[in-house]
Amino acid sequence: MQLGLLGYGVVGGGVHQWCLGRGDVAVKRVLVRSDKPEIAAISTRDIQDILGDDAIDTVVEVMGGIHPAYEYVKAALEAGKNVVTANKALIAAYYRELTALAAEKGVALRCTAAVGGGIPWLVNLERVARLDEIESLGGIMNGTSNYIMDAMHRSDVDFAAVLQKAQALGYAEADPSADIDGDDIRRKLTISANIAFGAVLEEEAIPTFGIRYVTAKDIANFRAHGFVCKLLAYAGTAENGVCAYIEPTLVDAHDLEAAVPANFNLITYEAAQLGRQSFYGQGAGRFPTAANVMQDCLDIQNGQRRFYTERAVPTTLDGTNEAHPYYVRYEGADPWLDSLTVERWDGAVITAAANTYDMIAWAKSHPGTFIAGIR
Ligand code: HSE
Repeated sequence: MQLGLLGYGVVGGGVHQWCLGRGDVAVKRVLVRSDKPEIAAISTRDIQDILGDDAIDTVVEVMGGIHPAYEYVKAALEAGKNVVTANKALIAAYYRELTALAAEKGVALRCTAAVGGGIPWLVNLERVARLDEIESLGGIMNGTSNYIMDAMHRSDVDFAAVLQKAQALGYAEADPSADIDGDDIRRKLTISANIAFGAVLEEEAIPTFGIRYVTAKDIANFRAHGFVCKLLAYAGTAENGVCAYIEPTLVDAHDLEAAVPANFNLITYEAAQLGRQSFYGQGAGRFPTAANVMQDCLDIQNGQRRFYTERAVPTTLDGTNEAHPYYVRYEGADPWLDSLTVERWDGAVITAAANTYDMIAWAKSHPGTFIAGIR
């Protein structure tokens, strides 16, 4: 199997390393943006050197960003090449078009590393969805935000300082707002929900509230009441489509999610017959992520020629019946919030069950406010 590698950054370099130790998968050509002396013999700046090379059967896109990754992936599929990508932004944004193109061309389109880094989440989601009915899925799908919440729970540290440390450790996205405001986890949720439910969700319509405004005082409040706060994603079947959202969530200190340390991920699905299964591991990093890219390539070598599902039905978001209590720290008076308040916790309130979509919309229109759903 001969690969054309698009990008030679953290993940691309990892894929090359894995290949060097094997006889069955080789990197034939690497598209680079700047000179890489260590791979001068196989590098090019011209995508046509990969697209026009019939010996290259699979294009591995690990360059990130949407453009020109989209144009290159599309051209590779059109040229009848299999595509493996770790690019969650690309797949979430062009889901319908790229999966339809791969099906039309009869080639594989795989993106296991795009959700959960090194965790074999999407391949297991594919396996359970072909047999059972997935009712819901979600969990901790962003390592940087978990790293921040974990550090803030362990000691009295400042949000900005912990974020800086996560950036230095290489967990955070180039623009860390994608991690702390929830865009990164939303992309992963969109891809997972689409595969699980045979849906096509509009990524940007998914209600999302991040951790930007959490304070040490909020954390002290959670600790005092036996809770741990995590940024959780959720998607489940609903009467008129799919209910999906992302919000900080208070879980019982004894729950599985509460124990997830540092930048680890814990992703779970609940299926009608199988029940609950969770996947725990490294959601980022060179070799974990490159390992999932390699596994996709090896599956293709073993005959894999499809996306994870062939169903892709545009689906509406339905949050009508999703309600639970909330922790709300809001500096001010608000009649709607007052009408929901059932308890007070040192400068914050606890509400009765409130509609999730309404609460996220309200909190987003009151900057500085922090909310957390209570599970
Ligand atoms: N910034 C992402 C995270 C990297 O922290 O999970 C992996 O997608």
